[in-house]
Amino acid sequence: PVEKTAQPLIGAVDQGTSSTRFLIFNCRTWELITYHQMEILQKYPKEGWVEEDPMEILASVVTCIDKAVENLAALGYLPDQIKAIGITNQRESLVVWDQHTGKPLHPAIIWLDGRTAETVDRLIQQSPGKSQDCFKSVAGLPISTYFTALKMRWLLDNDPNVKASVDSTRCLLGNVDSWLLWNLTGGVDGGKHYTDVTNASRTLLMNLHTLQWDNNLCSFFNISKKILPEIRSSSEIYGRLKCTALNGVPISGILGDQQAALVGQGAFRKGQAKNTYGTGCFLLYNTGTEPVNSSHGLLTTVAYQFGKNQPAHYALEGSVAIAGAAVKWLRDNLGIIKESAEIETLAAQVDDTHGCYFVPAFSGLFCPYWQPDARGIICGLSQFTNRCHIARACLEAVCFQTRELLECVSKDSGIPMTALQVDGGMTANSLLMQLHADLCNINIIRPSMTETTALGAAMAAGCAEGVDLCSIESLEANASITTDSYAPAIKNHEADQRFSRWKNAVQRSMRWEL
Ligand code: G3P
Repeated sequence: PVEKTAQPLIGAVDQGTSSTRFLIFNCRTWELITYHQMEILQKYPKEGWVEEDPMEILASVVTCIDKAVENLAALGYLPDQIKAIGITNQRESLVVWDQHTGKPLHPAIIWLDGRTAETVDRLIQQSPGKSQDCFKSVAGLPISTYFTALKMRWLLDNDPNVKASVDSTRCLLGNVDSWLLWNLTGGVDGGKHYTDVTNASRTLLMNLHTLQWDNNLCSFFNISKKILPEIRSSSEIYGRLKCTALNGVPISGILGDQQAALVGQGAFRKGQAKNTYGTGCFLLYNTGTEPVNSSHGLLTTVAYQFGKNQPAHYALEGSVAIAGAAVKWLRDNLGIIKESAEIETLAAQVDDTHGCYFVPAFSGLFCPYWQPDARGIICGLSQFTNRCHIARACLEAVCFQTRELLECVSKDSGIPMTALQVDGGMTANSLLMQLHADLCNINIIRPSMTETTALGAAMAAGCAEGVDLCSIESLEANASITTDSYAPAIKNHEADQRFSRWKNAVQRSMRWEL
Protein backbone atom coordinates (compact mmCIF):
# COMPACT_ATOMS: atom_id res chain seq x y z
CA PRO A 1 0.00 0.00 0.00
CA VAL A 2 1.07 3.57 -0.75
CA GLU A 3 2.41 5.41 2.32
CA LYS A 4 -0.36 7.64 3.77
CA THR A 5 1.69 10.80 3.37
CA ALA A 6 2.52 9.96 -0.26
CA GLN A 7 -1.09 9.89 -1.47
CA PRO A 8 -2.21 12.87 -3.58
CA LEU A 9 -5.34 14.58 -2.25
CA ILE A 10 -7.81 17.05 -3.74
CA GLY A 11 -9.98 19.57 -1.90
CA ALA A 12 -13.41 20.89 -2.87
CA VAL A 13 -15.22 24.00 -1.72
CA ASP A 14 -18.97 23.28 -1.73
CA GLN A 15 -20.71 26.62 -1.24
CA GLY A 16 -24.44 25.80 -1.12
CA THR A 17 -27.47 27.92 -0.29
CA SER A 18 -27.63 26.86 3.36
CA SER A 19 -24.04 25.95 4.18
CA THR A 20 -20.41 26.02 3.11
CA ARG A 21 -18.12 23.01 3.30
CA PHE A 22 -14.57 22.13 2.40
CA LEU A 23 -14.01 18.43 1.76
CA ILE A 24 -10.75 16.58 1.14
CA PHE A 25 -10.66 13.44 -1.03
CA ASN A 26 -8.05 10.83 -1.83
CA CYS A 27 -7.88 11.19 -5.59
CA ARG A 28 -7.02 7.55 -6.26
CA THR A 29 -9.88 5.97 -4.32
CA TRP A 30 -12.15 9.08 -4.07
CA GLU A 31 -12.55 8.27 -0.40
CA LEU A 32 -13.59 11.29 1.71
CA ILE A 33 -10.80 11.92 4.24
CA THR A 34 -12.20 14.86 6.23
CA TYR A 35 -14.28 18.03 5.97
CA HIS A 36 -15.46 21.14 7.80
CA GLN A 37 -18.91 22.71 7.46
CA MET A 38 -20.53 26.04 8.46
CA GLU A 39 -24.13 27.24 8.16
CA ILE A 40 -24.86 30.39 6.13
CA LEU A 41 -27.46 32.90 7.35
CA GLN A 42 -30.28 33.60 4.92
CA LYS A 43 -32.12 36.89 5.34
CA TYR A 44 -35.68 37.57 4.21
CA PRO A 45 -35.83 41.39 4.39
CA LYS A 46 -39.18 41.56 2.58
CA GLU A 47 -41.84 39.10 1.43
CA GLY A 48 -40.27 37.05 -1.38
CA TRP A 49 -36.75 38.46 -0.95
CA VAL A 50 -33.82 36.16 -0.06
CA GLU A 51 -30.35 37.58 0.61
CA GLU A 52 -27.00 36.44 1.98
CA ASP A 53 -23.88 38.37 2.96
CA PRO A 54 -21.07 37.85 0.38
CA MET A 55 -18.45 38.58 3.07
CA GLU A 56 -19.94 35.88 5.32
CA ILE A 57 -19.88 33.45 2.38
CA LEU A 58 -16.21 34.25 1.69
CA ALA A 59 -15.19 34.09 5.38
CA SER A 60 -16.95 30.73 5.74
CA VAL A 61 -14.98 29.33 2.79
CA VAL A 62 -11.65 30.50 4.25
CA THR A 63 -12.51 29.09 7.69
CA CYS A 64 -13.72 25.78 6.26
CA ILE A 65 -10.48 25.35 4.27
CA ASP A 66 -8.31 26.14 7.30
CA LYS A 67 -10.28 23.93 9.70
CA ALA A 68 -10.40 20.98 7.28
CA VAL A 69 -6.64 21.26 6.78
CA GLU A 70 -6.22 21.20 10.59
CA ASN A 71 -8.36 18.04 10.71
CA LEU A 72 -6.20 16.54 7.99
CA ALA A 73 -3.00 17.19 9.93
CA ALA A 74 -4.59 15.62 13.03
CA LEU A 75 -5.23 12.48 10.96
CA GLY A 76 -1.52 12.22 10.12
CA TYR A 77 -1.58 13.67 6.58
CA LEU A 78 0.45 16.63 5.34
CA PRO A 79 -1.27 19.76 3.96
CA ASP A 80 1.01 19.76 0.90
CA GLN A 81 -0.55 16.46 -0.17
CA ILE A 82 -3.44 18.62 -1.45
CA LYS A 83 -2.49 19.12 -5.09
CA ALA A 84 -5.50 21.08 -6.35
CA ILE A 85 -8.89 22.34 -5.31
CA GLY A 86 -12.25 22.61 -7.05
CA ILE A 87 -15.15 24.97 -6.39
CA THR A 88 -18.82 24.07 -6.62
CA ASN A 89 -21.54 26.52 -5.72
CA GLN A 90 -25.18 27.53 -5.43
CA ARG A 91 -26.00 28.76 -8.91
CA GLU A 92 -27.73 31.90 -10.26
CA SER A 93 -27.24 33.90 -7.03
CA LEU A 94 -25.84 37.35 -7.86
CA VAL A 95 -22.87 39.08 -6.23
CA VAL A 96 -21.73 42.57 -7.28
CA TRP A 97 -18.58 44.14 -5.91
CA ASP A 98 -16.17 47.06 -6.32
CA GLN A 99 -12.96 45.86 -7.95
CA HIS A 100 -10.91 48.64 -6.30
CA THR A 101 -12.02 48.08 -2.72
CA GLY A 102 -13.07 44.41 -2.97
CA LYS A 103 -16.26 45.28 -1.07
CA PRO A 104 -19.70 43.95 -2.09
CA LEU A 105 -22.02 46.67 -3.43
CA HIS A 106 -25.16 44.87 -2.31
CA PRO A 107 -26.12 41.72 -0.39
CA ALA A 108 -26.05 38.61 -2.60
CA ILE A 109 -29.48 38.18 -4.23
CA ILE A 110 -30.12 34.46 -3.84
CA TRP A 111 -31.54 32.29 -6.64
CA LEU A 112 -34.79 31.80 -4.68
CA ASP A 113 -35.41 35.56 -4.46
CA GLY A 114 -38.64 36.63 -6.18
CA ARG A 115 -38.26 40.44 -6.09
CA THR A 116 -37.88 40.54 -9.87
CA ALA A 117 -41.46 39.33 -10.61
CA GLU A 118 -42.49 42.73 -12.06
CA THR A 119 -39.22 43.01 -13.99
CA VAL A 120 -39.99 39.60 -15.48
CA ASP A 121 -43.50 40.72 -16.56
CA ARG A 122 -42.16 43.94 -18.07
CA LEU A 123 -39.36 42.21 -19.97
CA ILE A 124 -41.68 39.52 -21.32
CA GLN A 125 -43.86 42.31 -22.74
CA GLN A 126 -40.76 43.83 -24.40
CA SER A 127 -39.44 40.50 -25.68
CA PRO A 128 -39.68 39.18 -29.25
CA GLY A 129 -43.15 37.62 -29.54
CA LYS A 130 -43.92 38.71 -25.95
CA SER A 131 -43.03 35.20 -24.90
CA GLN A 132 -41.43 33.95 -21.69
CA ASP A 133 -39.65 31.31 -23.80
CA CYS A 134 -38.32 33.61 -26.54
CA PHE A 135 -34.64 33.00 -25.61
CA LYS A 136 -34.91 29.27 -24.91
CA SER A 137 -33.28 28.16 -28.14
CA VAL A 138 -30.27 30.43 -27.46
CA ALA A 139 -29.90 30.29 -23.68
CA GLY A 140 -31.99 27.23 -22.74
CA LEU A 141 -33.89 29.21 -20.08
CA PRO A 142 -37.21 31.08 -19.81
CA ILE A 143 -37.40 34.69 -18.60
CA SER A 144 -37.87 34.00 -14.88
CA THR A 145 -37.05 35.43 -11.45
CA TYR A 146 -34.66 32.45 -11.05
CA PHE A 147 -31.85 33.64 -13.31
CA THR A 148 -29.00 36.09 -12.73
CA ALA A 149 -29.73 38.52 -15.59
CA LEU A 150 -33.08 39.44 -14.04
CA LYS A 151 -31.51 40.05 -10.65
CA MET A 152 -28.86 42.31 -12.20
CA ARG A 153 -31.44 44.21 -14.25
CA TRP A 154 -33.42 44.81 -11.05
CA LEU A 155 -30.33 46.11 -9.24
CA LEU A 156 -29.46 48.48 -12.07
CA ASP A 157 -33.03 49.81 -12.05
CA ASN A 158 -33.33 50.10 -8.28
CA ASP A 159 -29.92 50.76 -6.73
CA PRO A 160 -28.30 54.04 -7.89
CA ASN A 161 -25.06 53.10 -6.14
CA VAL A 162 -24.72 49.89 -8.18
CA LYS A 163 -25.71 51.75 -11.35
CA ALA A 164 -23.03 54.43 -10.75
CA SER A 165 -20.43 51.78 -10.05
CA VAL A 166 -21.30 49.98 -13.29
CA ASP A 167 -21.19 53.25 -15.25
CA SER A 168 -17.72 54.02 -13.89
CA THR A 169 -16.63 50.39 -14.62
CA ARG A 170 -15.65 49.82 -10.97
CA CYS A 171 -18.29 47.10 -10.57
CA LEU A 172 -17.66 43.41 -11.18
CA LEU A 173 -20.55 40.97 -11.41
CA GLY A 174 -20.53 37.27 -10.80
CA ASN A 175 -22.20 34.23 -9.37
CA VAL A 176 -20.81 32.80 -6.16
CA ASP A 177 -18.08 30.89 -8.07
CA SER A 178 -16.69 34.15 -9.50
CA TRP A 179 -16.87 36.00 -6.19
CA LEU A 180 -14.91 33.19 -4.49
CA LEU A 181 -12.38 32.72 -7.30
CA TRP A 182 -11.61 36.46 -7.50
CA ASN A 183 -11.06 36.68 -3.75
CA LEU A 184 -9.17 33.43 -3.31
CA THR A 185 -6.75 34.27 -6.15
CA GLY A 186 -5.78 37.69 -4.78
CA GLY A 187 -8.85 39.97 -4.80
CA VAL A 188 -7.78 43.60 -5.35
CA ASP A 189 -4.24 42.31 -5.97
CA GLY A 190 -4.89 40.60 -9.29
CA GLY A 191 -7.80 38.28 -8.48
CA LYS A 192 -9.04 36.33 -11.53
CA HIS A 193 -12.48 37.31 -12.78
CA TYR A 194 -13.66 34.09 -14.44
CA THR A 195 -16.66 31.81 -14.33
CA ASP A 196 -17.13 28.34 -15.78
CA VAL A 197 -19.55 27.37 -18.58
CA THR A 198 -21.97 25.60 -16.25
CA ASN A 199 -22.42 28.66 -14.05
CA ALA A 200 -22.49 30.99 -17.05
CA SER A 201 -25.27 28.88 -18.58
CA ARG A 202 -27.53 29.86 -15.63
CA THR A 203 -27.31 33.62 -16.12
CA LEU A 204 -29.59 33.94 -19.20
CA LEU A 205 -26.72 35.84 -20.83
CA MET A 206 -24.73 32.96 -22.32
CA ASN A 207 -25.28 31.45 -25.76
CA LEU A 208 -25.40 27.66 -25.33
CA HIS A 209 -23.97 27.08 -28.80
CA THR A 210 -20.98 29.47 -28.73
CA LEU A 211 -20.41 29.14 -24.96
CA GLN A 212 -19.83 32.90 -24.88
CA TRP A 213 -21.79 35.91 -23.62
CA ASP A 214 -24.45 36.60 -26.22
CA ASN A 215 -24.57 40.14 -27.66
CA ASN A 216 -28.35 40.10 -28.16
CA LEU A 217 -29.03 38.85 -24.65
CA CYS A 218 -26.64 41.37 -23.07
CA SER A 219 -28.28 44.18 -25.00
CA PHE A 220 -31.83 42.96 -24.24
CA PHE A 221 -31.08 42.95 -20.50
CA ASN A 222 -28.88 46.03 -20.94
CA ILE A 223 -25.95 44.51 -19.07
CA SER A 224 -22.45 45.47 -20.16
CA LYS A 225 -20.09 42.62 -21.01
CA LYS A 226 -17.30 44.65 -19.35
CA ILE A 227 -18.53 43.72 -15.88
CA LEU A 228 -19.04 40.04 -16.65
CA PRO A 229 -16.42 37.38 -15.85
CA GLU A 230 -14.56 35.60 -18.65
CA ILE A 231 -16.12 32.21 -19.41
CA ARG A 232 -13.75 29.27 -18.96
CA SER A 233 -14.16 25.48 -19.09
CA SER A 234 -15.06 23.51 -15.95
CA SER A 235 -11.61 21.93 -15.67
CA GLU A 236 -8.44 24.00 -16.12
CA ILE A 237 -6.07 25.94 -13.89
CA TYR A 238 -7.73 29.32 -13.25
CA GLY A 239 -5.18 30.59 -10.72
CA ARG A 240 -3.60 29.77 -7.38
CA LEU A 241 -4.82 30.31 -3.84
CA LYS A 242 -3.33 33.44 -2.32
CA CYS A 243 -4.73 32.91 1.15
CA THR A 244 -5.57 30.14 3.63
CA ALA A 245 -3.37 27.25 4.70
CA LEU A 246 -3.33 26.11 1.06
CA ASN A 247 -1.53 29.19 -0.31
CA GLY A 248 -0.12 28.39 -3.76
CA VAL A 249 -2.40 25.40 -4.53
CA PRO A 250 -4.06 25.63 -7.98
CA ILE A 251 -7.81 26.10 -8.32
CA SER A 252 -8.55 23.90 -11.30
CA GLY A 253 -12.21 22.88 -11.30
CA ILE A 254 -15.44 24.91 -11.19
CA LEU A 255 -18.95 23.54 -11.63
CA GLY A 256 -22.40 24.71 -10.54
CA ASP A 257 -23.49 22.42 -7.71
CA GLN A 258 -26.10 20.48 -9.67
CA GLN A 259 -23.75 19.84 -12.57
CA ALA A 260 -21.04 18.82 -10.08
CA ALA A 261 -23.41 16.20 -8.63
CA LEU A 262 -23.97 14.77 -12.13
CA VAL A 263 -20.20 14.42 -12.53
CA GLY A 264 -19.81 13.02 -8.99
CA GLN A 265 -22.47 10.40 -9.78
CA GLY A 266 -20.42 9.35 -12.80
CA ALA A 267 -23.36 10.14 -15.11
CA PHE A 268 -21.13 10.90 -18.12
CA ARG A 269 -23.18 9.01 -20.67
CA LYS A 270 -26.10 10.28 -22.69
CA GLY A 271 -29.34 9.15 -21.05
CA GLN A 272 -27.93 9.01 -17.50
CA ALA A 273 -29.63 11.17 -14.88
CA LYS A 274 -29.44 12.15 -11.24
CA ASN A 275 -31.65 14.00 -8.77
CA THR A 276 -30.08 15.99 -5.92
CA TYR A 277 -32.02 17.03 -2.81
CA GLY A 278 -30.72 20.20 -1.12
CA THR A 279 -32.58 23.44 -0.48
CA GLY A 280 -34.39 22.66 -3.73
CA CYS A 281 -34.22 19.55 -5.86
CA PHE A 282 -32.71 19.33 -9.29
CA LEU A 283 -32.90 16.53 -11.84
CA LEU A 284 -30.26 16.58 -14.59
CA TYR A 285 -30.46 14.29 -17.62
CA ASN A 286 -27.30 14.03 -19.72
CA THR A 287 -28.06 14.67 -23.42
CA GLY A 288 -24.47 14.35 -24.68
CA THR A 289 -22.68 16.96 -26.75
CA GLU A 290 -25.84 18.49 -28.28
CA PRO A 291 -28.13 20.88 -26.43
CA VAL A 292 -31.71 19.54 -26.58
CA ASN A 293 -34.66 21.94 -26.42
CA SER A 294 -37.42 20.95 -24.03
CA SER A 295 -41.05 21.14 -25.07
CA HIS A 296 -42.21 20.37 -21.54
CA GLY A 297 -40.88 23.13 -19.30
CA LEU A 298 -37.40 21.76 -18.61
CA LEU A 299 -34.26 23.88 -18.90
CA THR A 300 -31.34 23.25 -21.23
CA THR A 301 -28.05 23.73 -19.47
CA VAL A 302 -24.34 22.97 -19.83
CA ALA A 303 -23.52 19.82 -17.84
CA TYR A 304 -19.70 20.14 -17.94
CA GLN A 305 -16.77 20.92 -20.20
CA PHE A 306 -13.60 19.13 -19.15
CA GLY A 307 -10.84 21.28 -20.70
CA LYS A 308 -10.93 24.36 -22.91
CA ASN A 309 -10.48 22.43 -26.15
CA GLN A 310 -13.00 19.75 -25.28
CA PRO A 311 -16.66 19.71 -26.30
CA ALA A 312 -19.26 20.81 -23.79
CA HIS A 313 -21.80 18.23 -22.63
CA TYR A 314 -25.35 19.34 -22.05
CA ALA A 315 -28.26 18.34 -19.85
CA LEU A 316 -31.99 18.80 -19.59
CA GLU A 317 -32.76 20.06 -16.11
CA GLY A 318 -35.88 19.93 -13.99
CA SER A 319 -35.57 22.47 -11.16
CA VAL A 320 -37.75 22.45 -8.07
CA ALA A 321 -37.24 25.48 -5.81
CA ILE A 322 -38.31 23.97 -2.48
CA ALA A 323 -37.38 20.49 -1.19
CA GLY A 324 -35.18 20.50 1.96
CA ALA A 325 -36.31 24.10 2.50
CA ALA A 326 -39.83 22.81 3.21
CA VAL A 327 -38.46 20.64 6.05
CA LYS A 328 -36.52 23.66 7.34
CA TRP A 329 -39.79 25.65 7.24
CA LEU A 330 -41.57 23.01 9.34
CA ARG A 331 -38.66 23.28 11.79
CA ASP A 332 -38.09 27.06 11.87
CA ASN A 333 -41.51 28.54 11.08
CA LEU A 334 -43.98 25.99 12.48
CA GLY A 335 -41.71 24.41 15.10
CA ILE A 336 -43.23 20.94 14.63
CA ILE A 337 -39.75 19.39 14.59
CA LYS A 338 -36.59 20.53 16.37
CA GLU A 339 -34.03 18.97 14.01
CA SER A 340 -34.57 18.38 10.29
CA ALA A 341 -33.80 14.67 10.66
CA GLU A 342 -36.78 14.28 13.04
CA ILE A 343 -39.17 14.52 10.10
CA GLU A 344 -38.52 10.88 9.24
CA THR A 345 -39.69 9.52 12.61
CA LEU A 346 -42.60 11.91 12.75
CA ALA A 347 -43.82 11.02 9.26
CA ALA A 348 -43.35 7.30 9.96
CA GLN A 349 -45.84 7.44 12.85
CA VAL A 350 -48.72 7.43 10.33
CA ASP A 351 -49.33 5.15 7.34
CA ASP A 352 -50.49 7.92 5.03
CA THR A 353 -51.24 11.64 4.97
CA HIS A 354 -54.96 11.04 5.43
CA GLY A 355 -55.68 13.05 2.31
CA CYS A 356 -53.44 15.98 3.22
CA TYR A 357 -51.42 17.58 0.39
CA PHE A 358 -48.69 20.19 0.78
CA VAL A 359 -47.53 22.30 -2.16
CA PRO A 360 -44.47 24.24 -0.91
CA ALA A 361 -44.61 26.95 -3.60
CA PHE A 362 -42.92 29.48 -1.30
CA SER A 363 -41.00 31.09 -4.19
CA GLY A 364 -43.58 30.39 -6.86
CA LEU A 365 -43.32 27.21 -8.89
CA PHE A 366 -40.36 26.39 -11.14
CA CYS A 367 -40.40 23.42 -13.57
CA PRO A 368 -42.65 22.75 -15.35
CA TYR A 369 -45.06 25.58 -14.37
CA TRP A 370 -42.82 28.67 -14.18
CA GLN A 371 -45.39 30.54 -12.10
CA PRO A 372 -43.67 33.15 -9.91
CA ASP A 373 -46.92 34.15 -8.19
CA ALA A 374 -47.96 30.64 -7.06
CA ARG A 375 -47.91 30.33 -3.25
CA GLY A 376 -47.66 27.42 -0.86
CA ILE A 377 -50.77 25.62 0.35
CA ILE A 378 -51.59 22.76 2.70
CA CYS A 379 -54.99 21.31 1.87
CA GLY A 380 -57.24 18.32 2.56
CA LEU A 381 -57.18 19.03 6.31
CA SER A 382 -59.72 17.59 8.76
CA GLN A 383 -59.94 17.45 12.55
CA PHE A 384 -58.13 14.13 12.28
CA THR A 385 -55.06 15.76 10.67
CA ASN A 386 -52.07 16.12 12.97
CA ARG A 387 -48.43 17.13 12.62
CA CYS A 388 -47.43 13.60 11.54
CA HIS A 389 -49.71 13.86 8.50
CA ILE A 390 -48.32 17.29 7.63
CA ALA A 391 -44.74 16.02 7.99
CA ARG A 392 -45.55 13.09 5.69
CA ALA A 393 -47.30 15.39 3.20
CA CYS A 394 -44.13 17.50 3.16
CA LEU A 395 -42.02 14.46 2.20
CA GLU A 396 -44.59 13.37 -0.39
CA ALA A 397 -44.46 16.85 -1.93
CA VAL A 398 -40.79 16.29 -2.75
CA CYS A 399 -41.72 12.99 -4.43
CA PHE A 400 -44.62 14.42 -6.43
CA GLN A 401 -42.46 17.31 -7.62
CA THR A 402 -39.84 14.79 -8.73
CA ARG A 403 -42.50 12.75 -10.54
CA GLU A 404 -43.49 15.86 -12.51
CA LEU A 405 -39.84 16.26 -13.58
CA LEU A 406 -39.51 12.59 -14.51
CA GLU A 407 -42.61 12.81 -16.70
CA CYS A 408 -41.21 15.88 -18.48
CA VAL A 409 -37.87 14.13 -19.09
CA SER A 410 -39.65 11.05 -20.46
CA LYS A 411 -41.79 13.16 -22.80
CA ASP A 412 -38.80 15.18 -24.04
CA SER A 413 -36.49 12.18 -24.49
CA GLY A 414 -39.17 9.71 -25.60
CA ILE A 415 -37.66 7.16 -23.20
CA PRO A 416 -39.38 6.40 -19.88
CA MET A 417 -36.89 6.35 -17.03
CA THR A 418 -36.81 3.15 -15.00
CA ALA A 419 -34.20 4.09 -12.41
CA LEU A 420 -33.07 7.32 -10.78
CA GLN A 421 -29.72 7.97 -9.09
CA VAL A 422 -30.19 10.27 -6.10
CA ASP A 423 -27.92 12.21 -3.76
CA GLY A 424 -27.86 15.15 -1.35
CA GLY A 425 -28.71 15.61 2.32
CA MET A 426 -32.32 14.41 2.19
CA THR A 427 -31.37 11.02 0.77
CA ALA A 428 -30.33 9.97 4.30
CA ASN A 429 -34.10 9.77 4.92
CA SER A 430 -34.98 6.17 4.04
CA LEU A 431 -38.74 6.76 4.34
CA LEU A 432 -38.39 9.52 1.73
CA MET A 433 -36.51 7.13 -0.57
CA GLN A 434 -39.29 4.50 -0.31
CA LEU A 435 -41.99 7.13 -0.85
CA HIS A 436 -40.08 8.21 -3.96
CA ALA A 437 -39.99 4.71 -5.36
CA ASP A 438 -43.71 4.27 -4.59
CA LEU A 439 -45.06 7.60 -5.79
CA CYS A 440 -42.79 7.92 -8.86
CA ASN A 441 -43.02 4.20 -9.70
CA ILE A 442 -39.28 4.04 -10.29
CA ASN A 443 -36.26 2.31 -8.78
CA ILE A 444 -34.31 4.70 -6.59
CA ILE A 445 -30.55 4.16 -6.45
CA ARG A 446 -28.61 5.72 -3.58
CA PRO A 447 -24.83 5.64 -4.04
CA SER A 448 -22.38 4.80 -1.29
CA MET A 449 -20.69 8.16 -1.82
CA THR A 450 -23.44 10.69 -1.04
CA GLU A 451 -21.05 13.68 -1.19
CA THR A 452 -21.35 13.68 -4.96
CA THR A 453 -21.50 17.46 -5.37
CA ALA A 454 -18.10 18.08 -3.79
CA LEU A 455 -16.76 14.92 -5.39
CA GLY A 456 -17.66 16.22 -8.87
CA ALA A 457 -15.76 19.46 -8.25
CA ALA A 458 -12.76 17.53 -6.93
CA MET A 459 -12.83 15.29 -10.01
CA ALA A 460 -12.90 18.30 -12.34
CA ALA A 461 -9.94 19.80 -10.45
CA GLY A 462 -7.98 16.54 -10.70
CA CYS A 463 -8.52 16.20 -14.46
CA ALA A 464 -7.25 19.68 -15.36
CA GLU A 465 -4.29 19.99 -17.69
CA GLY A 466 -1.26 20.72 -15.54
CA VAL A 467 -2.75 18.85 -12.56
CA ASP A 468 -3.26 15.53 -14.40
CA LEU A 469 -4.15 13.38 -11.43
CA CYS A 470 -6.97 11.58 -13.24
CA SER A 471 -8.73 11.42 -16.59
CA ILE A 472 -12.39 11.51 -17.46
CA GLU A 473 -12.05 7.88 -18.68
CA SER A 474 -10.74 6.79 -15.28
CA LEU A 475 -13.68 8.59 -13.65
CA GLU A 476 -16.19 6.75 -15.84
CA ALA A 477 -14.64 3.47 -14.79
CA ASN A 478 -14.87 4.54 -11.15
CA ALA A 479 -18.58 5.56 -11.13
CA SER A 480 -20.15 5.48 -7.65
CA ILE A 481 -20.85 2.10 -6.13
CA THR A 482 -24.48 1.45 -5.24
CA THR A 483 -25.13 0.52 -1.64
CA ASP A 484 -28.87 0.37 -1.68
CA SER A 485 -31.88 0.79 -3.88
CA TYR A 486 -35.61 1.13 -3.31
CA ALA A 487 -38.25 -0.52 -5.50
CA PRO A 488 -41.90 0.56 -5.81
CA ALA A 489 -44.03 -1.23 -3.21
CA ILE A 490 -47.51 0.11 -3.95
CA LYS A 491 -49.83 -0.46 -6.89
CA ASN A 492 -49.47 1.85 -9.89
CA HIS A 493 -53.08 2.96 -9.83
CA GLU A 494 -52.78 4.03 -6.19
CA ALA A 495 -49.71 6.16 -6.99
CA ASP A 496 -51.52 7.62 -10.01
CA GLN A 497 -54.57 8.53 -7.95
CA ARG A 498 -52.50 10.31 -5.31
CA PHE A 499 -50.51 12.08 -8.01
CA SER A 500 -53.66 13.39 -9.67
CA ARG A 501 -54.86 14.77 -6.29
CA TRP A 502 -51.47 16.43 -5.88
CA LYS A 503 -51.94 18.03 -9.30
CA ASN A 504 -55.31 19.40 -8.14
CA ALA A 505 -53.54 20.94 -5.15
CA VAL A 506 -50.94 22.47 -7.49
CA GLN A 507 -53.71 24.07 -9.55
CA ARG A 508 -55.06 25.64 -6.36
CA SER A 509 -51.62 26.96 -5.38
CA MET A 510 -51.52 28.76 -8.73
CA ARG A 511 -54.98 30.33 -8.25
CA TRP A 512 -54.73 31.20 -4.59
CA GLU A 513 -55.55 34.87 -5.16
CA LEU A 514 -58.83 34.18 -7.04
O1 G3P B 1 -30.01 26.46 -8.74
C1 G3P B 1 -29.87 26.55 -7.35
C2 G3P B 1 -29.01 25.43 -6.84
O2 G3P B 1 -27.76 25.49 -7.41
C3 G3P B 1 -28.98 25.45 -5.33
O3 G3P B 1 -28.56 24.24 -4.86
O4 G3P B 1 -28.00 22.61 -3.12
O5 G3P B 1 -28.03 24.99 -2.55
O6 G3P B 1 -30.16 23.73 -3.02
P1 G3P B 1 -28.71 23.89 -3.27
